[in-house]
Amino acid sequence: MWPAATLGPWSAPAALRDGAGRAVSVGRARLLGMCSGCPVVRAMAFMFCTYNGYLQSRYLSHYAVYADDWVTDPRFLAGFVLWLTGMLINIHSDGILRNLRQPGQTGYGIPRGGLFEYVSTANYFGEVLEWCGYGLASWSVQGAAFAMFSFCILACRARHHHRWYLEKFEDYPKFRKIMIPFLF
Ligand SMILES: NC(=O)c1ccc[n+]([C@@H]2O[C@H](COP(=O)([O-])OP(=O)(O)OC[C@H]3O[C@@H](n4cnc5c(N)ncnc54)[C@H](OP(=O)(O)O)[C@@H]3O)[C@@H](O)[C@H]2O)c1
Repeated sequence: MWPAATLGPWSAPAALRDGAGRAVSVGRARLLGMCSGCPVVRAMAFMFCTYNGYLQSRYLSHYAVYADDWVTDPRFLAGFVLWLTGMLINIHSDGILRNLRQPGQTGYGIPRGGLFEYVSTANYFGEVLEWCGYGLASWSVQGAAFAMFSFCILACRARHHHRWYLEKFEDYPKFRKIMIPFLF
C-alpha cells in the first residue's frame, strides 16, 4: 500500500494521480463558464473550480491510499477507459457546437453528428461519463460526490436545453433524448 503523497515523481501511479488532479482543475476551468462574458458567472466558475480542484487534489495527494497494483485493478482500468471515452465525447461534441456559428454569428442551430444524433446535450453526456470514470478510478467518496453533483447540475441544464430546442425548432429530431442515449 502507498499513500499517494509518498510516490516518486515518475512512477506510473504518480503520473496518473497528477494527471487526474490536473484534469480536474484544468477541466473545471475550461468547463464551467470561464469563457462567459458575465463577470458574476466567471467569478462563480472560478470559485467553484478552485475549491473543487483543491478538494480533489488535496484528497489525492494527502489522504488517498492505494495498493501498489491499483493501476491494474479492474476498477481503475474501467474508470480510466470511461474517463477517456467521456473526455473524447466531450471535446468532440463541444467542437460540433462551436462550429455551428460562423465568425460574427450569434444565433443557435441544431447540432448534428456524433452523439448529437442521440441526445440534445452530447457534450454534457461526455462530461458526466468523464467524472463517473474519475469517481470509479479514484474509488473515493470525493470522486463519487464530484460525479454525482456533476450529473445533477448537468441533467438540469440538459433538460432546459432540450426543452428549448423543441420549442425553438419545429423540425427538431423527436428521437433525441435529453442527455443519455436511449434512456434520458
Ligand atoms: N461538470 C459540470 O458541473 C459542468 C457544468 C457546466 C458545464 N460543464 C461543461 O462545460 C462545457 C460548456 O458548458 P456550457 O453549459 O456552456 O455548454 P453549452 O450550453 O452547450 O454551450 C457551449 C458553447 O456552444 C455554444 N452553443 C451551444 N449550443 C449551441 C447551438 N445550438 N448553436 C450554436 N451555438 C451553441 C454556446 O454558445 P452561448 O454561450 O452563446 O450559448 C457556448 O459557446 C461543456 O463541455 C460542459 O460539459 C460542466
